[in-house]
Amino acid sequence: MLSKKLLASVLSITLLGAIFTGCGAKTTTEESNEIKIGAILPLTGDIATFGQSAKNALEILAEEYNKEGILDGKKITFVYEDDENKPANSATVAQKLINNDKVVALVGSIASSCSLSVGPIAADAKIPMITPTSTNPKVTTEGGEYVFRACFIDPFQGTVLAKFSSEDLGAKKAAVLYDVANDYSVGLAEYFKKSFEEAGGEVVAFETYNTGDADFNAQLTNIKATSPDVLLLPDYYNTVGLIAKQARSLGIDAALLGGDGWDSPDLFAVGGDAINNGYFSNHYSPDDDSKEVVDFIAAYNAAYNETPDALAALSYDAGKILIEAIISAGSTDADAIKDALAATDGTFVSGSITYDADRNPIKGAVIIKTEDGKQVFEKKVNP
Ligand code: PHE
Repeated sequence: MLSKKLLASVLSITLLGAIFTGCGAKTTTEESNEIKIGAILPLTGDIATFGQSAKNALEILAEEYNKEGILDGKKITFVYEDDENKPANSATVAQKLINNDKVVALVGSIASSCSLSVGPIAADAKIPMITPTSTNPKVTTEGGEYVFRACFIDPFQGTVLAKFSSEDLGAKKAAVLYDVANDYSVGLAEYFKKSFEEAGGEVVAFETYNTGDADFNAQLTNIKATSPDVLLLPDYYNTVGLIAKQARSLGIDAALLGGDGWDSPDLFAVGGDAINNGYFSNHYSPDDDSKEVVDFIAAYNAAYNETPDALAALSYDAGKILIEAIISAGSTDADAIKDALAATDGTFVSGSITYDADRNPIKGAVIIKTEDGKQVFEKKVNP
């Protein structure tokens, strides 16, 4: 039997404990009823459709998880910051999200140059980061162990384009026109060149410009003189549209080739008919009949009355990979999330994902043809 004294002290300790736990629990609930995730996106600027699609997708995702909440009913809030596709801005808003908003992780940015500027900041703060779309290999290798992505990388994308143009289009001579100040553009240009030459083709022109340039006539005149079978334009839709118009008006009728940066509802709005007779590699096709794609298209359509592009698909996937990692970590501890991210193994809208040692998913690509002012599914390419 317990003595009265012992009983009294047991009781008081229990009571004290209850008071402390009570207070503690209250503060914890107040502070962490919400799980904040930073989202760094180009919501305005030259690639604004990318940021808008990404934000649309993340909102659908948050709504889906917030019906029940995660980790005992906590709600997910994406805190959005606009980097306008300017790497210096990406760094500033990353600091703000980490230091002021105290986000537990970051989704973003979109362009490789922007994600390259966020990676080291996330790494220093030990905040897990996942970019939906940045395909340049350096994003994760330079960013380090806290930086992941939801997309394939450009050595793969360059190879897919080179093989497709030599094997499927029978191209022997390729010209390339790329932006020297854009990591994505430089990388894709170089990986394509290497693979195209390995496939027995010849790169007859390798011309450059700078971000923001609007007159490409000098480079295109040089390119025209080499009569290429294909012309690779590894840039984003706005610049690609401009270049395509100038190329066609100089009489270049070669098939145009591009990468994922072409995927925008504004591609034809900027480039018009000049974009026809083109092919670009991409991350997903709305024509895919997998359950993940069908469900995602239905949800996106219901919310926004439009078909989601690859930006939306990858952003949805990136957010989902991250939230699932938080759930399987059972906590918002950065290292636990990072380890759970590395152990990802699931099927998403853009395909099945597991990570290699550099935190890159291995996954397939699709080729889209631009024809009669529309994007048409051409083929699927596995790694
Ligand atoms: N891959 C591009 C980059 O790294 C970004 C992008 C992805 C743009 C997908 C459009 C669609 O900069």
